[in-house]
Amino acid sequence: MKAYVCREFGPVDSHKVEEIEDPRAEPGMVIMDVKAAGVSFPDVLIVQGKYQFQPPFPFSPGGEVAGIVTEIGEGVTDWKVGDRAIAMTGNGGIAEKVAAYAATLMPLPESMGFKDGAAFPLNYGTTYYALKQRGELKPGETLLVTGAGGGVGTTAIEIGKAMGARVIAAASNQEKLDIAKRLGADEVVNYGDGELKEKVKALTDGQGADVIYDAVGGDIFMQCMRCINWKGRVLVIGFPAGIPAVPTNLALLKGCSIVGVFWGRFTGTEPEENAKNFDELFALHAEGKLKPEITKSYSLDEAIVAIKSLEDRTATGKVVIEI
Ligand SMILES: NC(=O)c1ccc[n+]([C@@H]2O[C@H](COP(=O)([O-])OP(=O)(O)OC[C@H]3O[C@@H](n4cnc5c(N)ncnc54)[C@H](OP(=O)(O)O)[C@@H]3O)[C@@H](O)[C@H]2O)c1
Repeated sequence: MKAYVCREFGPVDSHKVEEIEDPRAEPGMVIMDVKAAGVSFPDVLIVQGKYQFQPPFPFSPGGEVAGIVTEIGEGVTDWKVGDRAIAMTGNGGIAEKVAAYAATLMPLPESMGFKDGAAFPLNYGTTYYALKQRGELKPGETLLVTGAGGGVGTTAIEIGKAMGARVIAAASNQEKLDIAKRLGADEVVNYGDGELKEKVKALTDGQGADVIYDAVGGDIFMQCMRCINWKGRVLVIGFPAGIPAVPTNLALLKGCSIVGVFWGRFTGTEPEENAKNFDELFALHAEGKLKPEITKSYSLDEAIVAIKSLEDRTATGKVVIEI
């Protein structure tokens, strides 16, 4: 089969799309024909050895796919050849075939095509867990989303609105803010000039946001700590702009919580809660309240361009590889 293969850690464009052996269905696993693979920021990091997990070589990135089950491993009873499924693969998804643990599979809803299926699990799963279980967002509260024009950011606007919040979307350029507005953000803020804190305070009568979904890190996180409301919750989602060192006196002065969000671990430690979250997310998708913002699809041969668009910050919404 063809796959984008990492044989040693290095820049995204140092790896190639090449022919490799097909994966085998080990016990508890299935093999899927990948129809579409979601691209997300961890793919940028994992091939460079900068992600929290480092798979053994050779490996392909790609943590989420939608496709068709073609082989069943020993001990797997609840899936059959021909089933349409979404799988959380961790890695290996940017390939024509992938081996996935049956426990990570979900049926691809009738209402969903392969591209939407591949774009769905990581970003919506993370965001719903973040806003529901970790941030306890309530109707009427103000939610600030940073990196609002990116993969997880666009889902935070949609889910924040679906949960009844007033959403302030923040991003670095007008193209990303236009997407945020189209997805339902009540207000948009361009932080390209370094004035996120001032702009959010001006929009909230000087109070700040009740919940902040920070998908950016670095200096943006520091500004978030200065525009969080009393008793607010700052959700730590990711760090494309770097991991900030936070002066903890800010948490004291604001009486706020800094809340870590690690969706991958939640799926393993609380699988029933995660399954319930997805029942609710799929229902919202079927009602038309959630629609993955897929701005660009690439072929497998274009995997480098697809992943690099996240690295160089030009990607908007969700990027998908169609196979
Ligand atoms: N906690 C979890 O369980 C979990 C789950 C999934 C993803 N994540 C993390 O969430 C973060 C976002 O992932 P994503 O897939 O949504 O990525 P993405 O689509 O590339 O969006 C990230 C956004 O970050 C902003 N950014 C600021 N500085 C950047 C830089 N130096 N390089 C790249 N982007 C920069 C960009 O927006 P502006 O240009 O508007 O600033 C960009 O749109 C990543 O750190 C990822 O690892 C965490």
